[in-house]
Order: sequence, then C-alpha cells, then structure tokens
Amino acid sequence: MCGIVALIGSREAAPQLLEGLRQLEYRGYDSAGIATVEADGSPGAPGRLHCLRAEGKLVNLTARWEAEGAPGHCGIGHTRWATHGKPEERNAHPHLDGSGRLAVVQNGIIENHRTLREELQAEGVTFLSDTDTEVIPHLVARRLRELGAEGHAADAALLLRAVQEVLPLLHGAYALAVVWADVPGALVVARRQAPLLIGLGEGEFLCASDTPALAGFTRTILPLEDGEVALLTPLGIELYNAAGARVQRTPSLLSGTEHVADKRSFRHFMLKEIHEQPETAALWVARHLPEGALVALPLDEAFYEGVEEIEILACGTSRHAAQVGAYLLEQLAGIPTNVFYASEFRYAPPPLVPGMLTIGVTQSGETADTLAALAMEQERRLGHGDPAYAPKLLGITNRPESSLSRMVPHLLDIGAGIEVGVAATKTFLGQLLAFYGLALAFAERRLAAGAPVGRDRQGLETLVAELRALPQQLQQLVDDHDRRCTELAHLFADTQDVIFLGRGINYPIAMEGALKLKEISYIHAEGYPAGEMKHGPIALLDARVPVVSIAMPGMVFDKVLSNAQEAKARDAQLIGVAPAGPDTALFDTLLPVPEVDELLSPLLTVIPMQLLSYHIAAHRGLDVDQPRNLAKSVTVE
Ligand code: AGP
Repeated sequence: MCGIVALIGSREAAPQLLEGLRQLEYRGYDSAGIATVEADGSPGAPGRLHCLRAEGKLVNLTARWEAEGAPGHCGIGHTRWATHGKPEERNAHPHLDGSGRLAVVQNGIIENHRTLREELQAEGVTFLSDTDTEVIPHLVARRLRELGAEGHAADAALLLRAVQEVLPLLHGAYALAVVWADVPGALVVARRQAPLLIGLGEGEFLCASDTPALAGFTRTILPLEDGEVALLTPLGIELYNAAGARVQRTPSLLSGTEHVADKRSFRHFMLKEIHEQPETAALWVARHLPEGALVALPLDEAFYEGVEEIEILACGTSRHAAQVGAYLLEQLAGIPTNVFYASEFRYAPPPLVPGMLTIGVTQSGETADTLAALAMEQERRLGHGDPAYAPKLLGITNRPESSLSRMVPHLLDIGAGIEVGVAATKTFLGQLLAFYGLALAFAERRLAAGAPVGRDRQGLETLVAELRALPQQLQQLVDDHDRRCTELAHLFADTQDVIFLGRGINYPIAMEGALKLKEISYIHAEGYPAGEMKHGPIALLDARVPVVSIAMPGMVFDKVLSNAQEAKARDAQLIGVAPAGPDTALFDTLLPVPEVDELLSPLLTVIPMQLLSYHIAAHRGLDVDQPRNLAKSVTVE
C-alpha cells in the first residue's frame, strides 16, 4: 500500500521522482507528493526544501510541478493509499517537521502513532494532518535538536544518527525516506517489514518500494533487509543493520523484463494481462512439463518428505487460487489441505500438528496479512521444539525478489511477468499452474510410495498431456470471449447485483468471478457453491439479478444444471460458462468453454469470468486498472 521513491545524484530529482511514482501508482493513487532539497551552491551551506502535494491521481501532482517547479538534486516522493486520514491534500505525503525543513515519506503503519502524537502535542508540536506518518518528521526534528543540530554545522552523519535513534520508537511496519534542507546532499532510508530497494545508477541512487520504479534507470539493485537503514549521498551508500552495525552487501542484477510495465496497444493493462495468459501458460509448460518426465519443479527431494498435511495462507484472488490448489492436493495427491484467510489465521491458528507444509500464496510477495501469518506460523513451530513440528514454508509468488521470497526457504516463482492492473488475472492463472505442478509432483511421489492418490500413473500422464495443450486452448478462448463479452457487456448497463455459481473445483472460480466484477465495476456480486443457493441466497433472485453459472462436465455437472434450472424458475437471466450442447441449452446466453478433464477446467472457466468483468467495467467507463479504494500491494494489515 502506498509507493515511495527517493533520489539523490546530479540530475534534477523531480522528473525522475514523478516517473518513479507513475510506475508505482498501482500501489495507491488517492493523492501524491514530492519534496526536493535545493542546494545553495556553496559547500556545507543549508539548502531549501520544496514540497508539492496534490489530492487525486498523479496527473494532478505533475500539473502542480509543471506550474510551480521543485528544483534540487535530492528528493523523495509518495503515492498514497489512505490508511489514516481521508484522501485529502493535507494528508498526502511528504509530511514536514514544524520548521518545514525536514520531510518524510512512509509506506506502512505506525501502530503507536496516537501515543507519540499525544507526547509531541504535550511538548507543543502542532499537527497538520490526520496521518500516522506525521509523527516521524517531528520525532526526527526533536532528536536533531537534542543532538545539538542547531548549534553546529549540520552533516549527513547527524541526520543518520537522528533517524536511527527514532526508529526504535516506532511500532509497526514501515519503509521510509527522509530529507533535510540543512544537508542538501544526503538522504536516509529505512525499512521494517515493508519493501524498499535501492537502485544503483551512475553517480546517483534511486530508492523505491518496487522494481517498476527503476525501469530505465538501472538494473542493479540492493534490496534493504528488514531493520536496515541506509545513508545515501552522491558518493555512495552506507548501510547499517538494526543494531547500528555497518553492513556490506553485493548488489544484485534484475533479470529479464520483469520490471518493465508497458500497456502496448491495449486500452487497459488488465486487458493486456488477460491476453498474456496463453504466454504465461506456454512458459510454464516449457519450464515445468519437460518431455520424458511428469513434472519438474525447482524443489529438492527432501522438500516432499514428511508432509502429512498442508495449510495455505492467502488473501483475495490468491486465496481463490489456493482453494483450487487445496482441491487438487486433496483429490489428486491425497493430502489433507486447509486454506485460511491470512488475516484470520494469525489470530485463530489451528492447533499444531506434525508434518505440516505451510504455503503462502501472494502474487506481490508483499501482502502484509500473508507475511504476518507466515511469520507467526514459523515462530510458533520453531518454539515447539519437536522436529516433527518444525516449520516447512513454501512461497508461491510472481515476485522472486519480494519480502516473501526472503522469508521462505522454498519458492515457486510463477514467472508471469509484471502485472500492473489492480485486478489480478495472469498471476491468478500462474498461481493455479503452480498448484497443478505441486499436486502432480506430490501425487507422483505418493503413488510410487504406495499411498492413496486420485489417479493412477496413466491418469496423471493424461492430465499432463492435456496441460500441454492448454496454451493453445487459452489463446482461442481469450480471442473468442474478448469479442463475446464486449457484446454482452451492454446487457449489464443497469445491473446492480450478480450471482456467480459453481461447484467442486469450480466453486473458487465462481468466487473469483464475483470478486473481479466487484472490484472493477462496483457491481455487487456474490459467488456461491451452486448447491447452497436453495439454503437462502435464492431469495435474492428475480429478473433483475443475472446468474452466471459454471457448468463443466464431470462429477457435479447434472447437479449444477439442476441448480441453474432452479434459478431460471425464479426469472433470473442465466449466463452459462459451459461446453455448447443440448445439456447447456437452458442458458439464455452461453460463454462456451471446451470440454476438458474436470480437474483442469478452472484454467479455462476463469477466462470468461475475467473478460466479462473487464468489459462490463470498461463499458461503464470506469478506471479498470486503478479501481477506487484499492491498491495492488496491500502492505498494511
Ligand atoms: C485481486 O484482483 C485483488 N486485487 C486482491 O484480492 C489480491 O488478490 C489480494 O490483495 C492479494 O494480493 P497478493 O496476491 O499480492 O497477496
């Protein structure tokens, strides 16, 4: 949540800060701001702080900068997703100290901000915003005064020391950057449980919450570890750990094009990302389904040993992928599996059992709820003492350089390439594929060991053969449904409620269809297991409530069709996501999906869900890529 950038070097900072914020706008976009420090020209002389902030999208801030300017070679920037305080200009970052010479941007939540605010107010400090962040510039300024900054020539070491000594006062998770007009050539950044990395340019450094902000600047990065603080000057980086000891670390290189976000000729990132799914699948097939083997994952043999149960922690769309994953791990690999909302797990974890594999699923690798739940599980398992209860953590993510990746020993990188649209699409498909791979890998080993699994060897090989055909099927589906859903969207012009139904392995896809529609079109939608309708929700149905029903041949095909009939009898407009044929003639509108093995069907049925939501929202003229109140990475609990 929120994106921060900070630059120091020899060029004008503001244009690069604004470009960095543009790339991070997916993290929050209700207000934005920058602060730059303009040097006086003579060495050691204090400079001037320029601070510009604007409510709304980044274009508003850019317009202010074009009109007013913000000179200086050092600066910080922020794009906000409101946590404390309404999305108004006075709550936008940067926040300043009382003198207006020290500025701070922060991503995270300072949990004890109320106590700190009261303490500062008692000392006579006036607050100008409702944010938790504003305590930080006041605390740093107070510490600078205590260190005698006013009496002596200010220097970068003093700023560093003041920040280091304030950080232990802050409770919560944060990434922050500080500039001070008295030291125009210095920048201090720090992180605790929120992402921050430093990009190393030529004689300049660009810090950011995420790699897209570094596009076109550098590929050489130094991700900050938890608790670290860095002092940056044009001459170099001084890195310190939480204990204040100097740290030396070699920078790494960003590979591929994972940090380049380009809309190409598509109207929205979301549509482009839906269209990229055949490629996501093709890459996954090429990497993980090699000829002559069932499945190849980057996990060593010891990983699979001793796993008796699986728990999966995730949020939102990632949780829907986890639900499909749990179905596969139980029905195909025969391993009892439970899925938890990460935000609930932390406060009500199930009793500890031995032989547990814990999987954290998060496309961004930065979701605070998921990371906190994983950390809690790791801690309580380590505390148990019996090796049978030791933590075994696997992460499934699209961001191998994320906080999640640094936290877990085993990782499945879904390799979908950067996803910018707030609504997850290709990363959902990537997460599904990771679970297909994992379930197949467990099933293969358990079969060989004589344990009960859902398919014999021949059955597993048939599934893999069908998976190899997936990229082509997806290509056809995306092309076909892009057109069909464009035509269908106008039917939803006045719709206020939609029900999505599915059963078995397609129940999570019904949930995902409803979530996609809600988040980008603001239409109320619910996903239900089709059989559950008659136990209450059916009371909602009438001619104004369309029902989207996923009916794929297999174990529950007839049951889903009967449930659809029940909805039709209540005058609901029926939209079927099902193979064309006499059985599915009951649907008023059909979004046809080819018949495949029921276990593989979610990989296909999700496509019409995504395209239907997209076209309904686009038809309504909504901001599909940046829907209201949302952000791509939810880095607050
Ligand atoms: C997806 O469309 C949503 N924007 C949201 O539910 C998302 O899946 C959730 O916040 C989890 O994000 P993560 O995968 O990065 O952890």
